[in-house]
Amino acid sequence: MKEKVLRALRDEDDYVSGQALCEKLGVSRTAVWKAIQSLREDGYVIEAVPNKGYRITGCPDTIAAEEVASRLRTKWMGKKLYYFSTIDSTNQYAKKLGEEQAPDGTIVIADEQTAGKGRSGRHWVTPPKSAIAFTILVRPKLPPSRISMVTLVKGLAVCNAIRQLYSLPAGIKWPNDVVIHGRKICGILTEMSAEVDGVHYVVIGTGINANLTSFPEEIRKIATSLELELGHPVDRAQVLCRVIELFEQYYDLFEKRGDLTDLQEMYNKELLNLNQKVRVLDPKGAYTGTALGIDPEGELLVKRDDDGKTVKVWSGEVSVRGIYGYV
Ligand code: BTN
Repeated sequence: MKEKVLRALRDEDDYVSGQALCEKLGVSRTAVWKAIQSLREDGYVIEAVPNKGYRITGCPDTIAAEEVASRLRTKWMGKKLYYFSTIDSTNQYAKKLGEEQAPDGTIVIADEQTAGKGRSGRHWVTPPKSAIAFTILVRPKLPPSRISMVTLVKGLAVCNAIRQLYSLPAGIKWPNDVVIHGRKICGILTEMSAEVDGVHYVVIGTGINANLTSFPEEIRKIATSLELELGHPVDRAQVLCRVIELFEQYYDLFEKRGDLTDLQEMYNKELLNLNQKVRVLDPKGAYTGTALGIDPEGELLVKRDDDGKTVKVWSGEVSVRGIYGYV
């Protein structure tokens, strides 16, 4: 009910009368009043003016389900939202939902994670009231071999959301780190449950350093946040909604084709490694070359320095570093 009232108030620029709310939502005056009281307790400032009605004049900084649901403009993604003020890991919970037949596009959001998982078994820091941590559960009708591309799709959505909302010079370090001024602002961890010929579900977990102002010593030099870059905190729900909306658009294109053909050009525009010297840390032997962009499968094309040949680099096998630093 709170979500429906919030959405109804947000849909109007002006006051909405109690009567109009009752009619729109098909509930009693008491139900509307209770929802308004409960929203006020959550920190929403809702004006009530006799003969005019209700109007929202202030919102708390929250990424709780009703806030996100009332602002999210998607066709199918995020129609089922779970929110936790604290949880071990949103990926862990989303996998449990995946086993329980939760619908395609279900999203798990957390204000704080106590055991956030990063890639290669690392820990991901998610302090309360400042980070954005969420996981999207999808059930793509694609073979398992195609799924790793979804991580690049997600990186592109985060990068473009940040660029659109704040005009910050965000870019992508292949395959999916979103970077601003040489420092990482977002991490993505994709996990899948599949058999040889089909995927049961995929969970795409994303951590965005929104309003963090300090980092543990070991990542201080390579991490940044939106607040540190902008000099002021951001509206976390706005960032989260824009990322989900763009991801839905890009994911639909990816799922339809089964590859990144429709996203390749857009991705390469944001690729910080493009035409840059890179060191490819191949387990069979490291080499250097120039990054030429991704192909439709998301592989990085690298023109090797030693023989001038263009080779395809796949993220599962190798990692790529800039010659002079992290990017
Ligand atoms: C990385 O190491 O770069 C990936 C970090 C992924 C972190 C996110 S936060 C939400 C989701 N839940 C987790 O436990 N991990 C991912």
